Amino acid sequence: MHIEYSSGFIIYRENKSGKLEFLFLRKKNGDIDIPKGHIEKGENALRAAIRETKEETSLDVKPDRFFNIRRYYWFRFGKETIKKYLTVFLSEYMGGEVKVSSEHEGYEWIEPAKAVAEYSKKHYNSDYIDAAVGYLEKQRLLQELNEAYSRLPETFRKWELSRRFVPGEGPYNAEIMVIGQAPGANEDDSGRPFVGRAGKLLDSLLRSAGIPRKKAYITSVVQFFPYGNRMPTEEEIEACKPFLFKQISIIKPKLVITLGSLASMTVCGVGAIKSNHGTVVKRDGINYFCTMHPAAAVRIKSNMPIIKGDFLKLKPLAKEALSAKKEKGNQNLAS
Ligand code: URA
Repeated sequence: MHIEYSSGFIIYRENKSGKLEFLFLRKKNGDIDIPKGHIEKGENALRAAIRETKEETSLDVKPDRFFNIRRYYWFRFGKETIKKYLTVFLSEYMGGEVKVSSEHEGYEWIEPAKAVAEYSKKHYNSDYIDAAVGYLEKQRLLQELNEAYSRLPETFRKWELSRRFVPGEGPYNAEIMVIGQAPGANEDDSGRPFVGRAGKLLDSLLRSAGIPRKKAYITSVVQFFPYGNRMPTEEEIEACKPFLFKQISIIKPKLVITLGSLASMTVCGVGAIKSNHGTVVKRDGINYFCTMHPAAAVRIKSNMPIIKGDFLKLKPLAKEALSAKKEKGNQNLAS
């Protein structure tokens, strides 16, 4: 059996009426395809997808940081069985004229339902178009919600948190969500969650549970820095909570990891994390895993083995949650 690797881009834009459309190339045999092609020796999947897209459309792309789907299928070429891996990335259309390569007849911008129907007739395992549609819808909903959340300081009675909004970070369709207390000074400076010392520890704890950081959506109960790292007040928590719950309902994770007493109490009613760490709560098809905040282990060394033990215990739940998005394949042995 021969193995081949290829990669490509789903490119999207909003048309003049605000409707989503995808870019497809029309092949000489009449079929449509996304820009994609072989990964050459020494190239990684992303580099190859950028190069192939440039060669086939003359467009530059701006890859989404988190969307990355790998599928495989088999086909027969003469007497040989070929297993082909395909990695698909996502990019917004960055402008510029589409100029197709000589192997294509032309190009079309196609709306989602029509694209899925036509593409899936000829491409095995092509659920990545559907996945992109779902992902972009979640992106739209979260951006809209975060836009309103970022304006909370304007309407709150007496705002005493930083005015810099630190939105969650990760795939909009993540199977795993991580929720901390509130951003610290480093997060307030950078506008990104968990980038300080607690963030570095979180990354390694996630890795120990088999969760690459880029697979999780990482955020906090309160998404503005409480100066001096003070505990957010009841009133601040109450004002921020509805936004967090809406974020969870848009992302629809399978597993939520709450870090520290505030997150565990707010999200699943589990307090006193020192004695209740490692608790799993099942609600509405979601597993909630309550553990300590990594900052507590950075500050107090005796907490380190406790939090490390919790993340090892988390491994099977994480595996179960991530398996839904695992590389899928199917067989097409027709010549
Ligand atoms: N601690 C949190 O709870 N959230 C962050 O974003 C950073 C540190």
